[in-house]
Amino acid sequence: MTTEELIAHSDQYIMGTYSRFPIVLVKGSGAKVWDSDGKEYLDFISGIAVCSLGHSHPRVAEAIKKQAGILTHVSNLYHIEPQIILARLLAENSFADKVFFCNSGAEANEAAFKLARKYACDYMPGDRYDLIAMKDSFHGRTLATVAATGQSKFHAGFAPLPEGFRHVPFNDLSALKAAITEKTCGIIVEPIQGEGGVKIPDDDYLRGVRRICDDNGLLFILDEIQTGMGRTGTLFAYQDCGIEPDIMTLAKALGNGFPVGAMLATDKIASAFVPGSHASTFGGNPLAMVAGLAVMETLLNDGVLENCRRMGAYLLERLSKLKKRHPVVREVRGKGLMIGMELVEEGSDIVRKCMNKGVLINCTCGNILRFLPPLTIGEEEIDRVVSVLDEAMEDQ
Ligand SMILES: Cc1ncc(COP(=O)(O)O)c(C=O)c1O
Repeated sequence: MTTEELIAHSDQYIMGTYSRFPIVLVKGSGAKVWDSDGKEYLDFISGIAVCSLGHSHPRVAEAIKKQAGILTHVSNLYHIEPQIILARLLAENSFADKVFFCNSGAEANEAAFKLARKYACDYMPGDRYDLIAMKDSFHGRTLATVAATGQSKFHAGFAPLPEGFRHVPFNDLSALKAAITEKTCGIIVEPIQGEGGVKIPDDDYLRGVRRICDDNGLLFILDEIQTGMGRTGTLFAYQDCGIEPDIMTLAKALGNGFPVGAMLATDKIASAFVPGSHASTFGGNPLAMVAGLAVMETLLNDGVLENCRRMGAYLLERLSKLKKRHPVVREVRGKGLMIGMELVEEGSDIVRKCMNKGVLINCTCGNILRFLPPLTIGEEEIDRVVSVLDEAMEDQ
């Protein structure tokens, strides 16, 4: 089929939940992808913070290929070695003792909500089930995760949403404290709001949330679905904030493109889940587990985190210089390789121009350009993207 025919078939047969760009991607390697007409792009969005080790990473590809010929699925009625090893590796490298595996970010958050409610039911006094979430947050597209998401545009048309979620402004500890009631069992926060516009809280914000949780006997849930797996320069973003959560959710880059999610907790909290409390047919599937293992081994051993910190600082500096040249830029902010450039106007034109010039970036909240390149990116690739962006903004 030609590219035009493919796109026509896409419109005909796929539900219209996305407004896709008019290209068909067929191949990827490292930070590059190619479309069906052979055009090359530098990918600075990485499948929205998923392919953090770059496309077709050899260790991940080899692990999936090999596992596909050995054992692809047996369900969680039985033990499988890769699941046990990945759970151990995640626990050894985080605050957590136990892991529940699922298939996506929304599912990981659903599991976290259920664990928090079950823990509250089993161990907290009174009748507690409310979670406090943040305005402008994003936690997924299932009904409960939409209810937790603090953006009304995602709620519209889906009422009634599940009860038990209240929202307070992000980065506002007084509002958070004031929102606690006798029904509250926990607080869910993203360390940096991704879909909400790459919003970074004050340095002591997460420590403040931890303190409020401790003072009030509440569970602290961190949604690290976008920030986790090295994106902000440490394996998990909380590791640079001087706190530990009680529950953490992961997905996106955990499988470098193979769908996998995880919900991690301390032994004490995890003890509220017993056989029958929660389940997933595909969760922890051998293919997903070997992908996750290959990702973890690469992140821990190949200097990827160090590269993320260095290249993150470099990209931030290069983009900040663009701010001086282009009045359309209001602010550049970020941590590691999670970087946002807030514009004074809509960003879709610039995104389209960059794409035409062979660079893929993303725009969130209408006016915030988002840069999420592979953590393995180098200076040359950054220079090329910055110069394309410079040109694209020239004509604004
Ligand atoms: C912070 C955060 N939580 C949850 C999700 C939902 O993940 P998924 O799309 O895998 O369900 C996302 C996705 O963008 C996210 O950024």
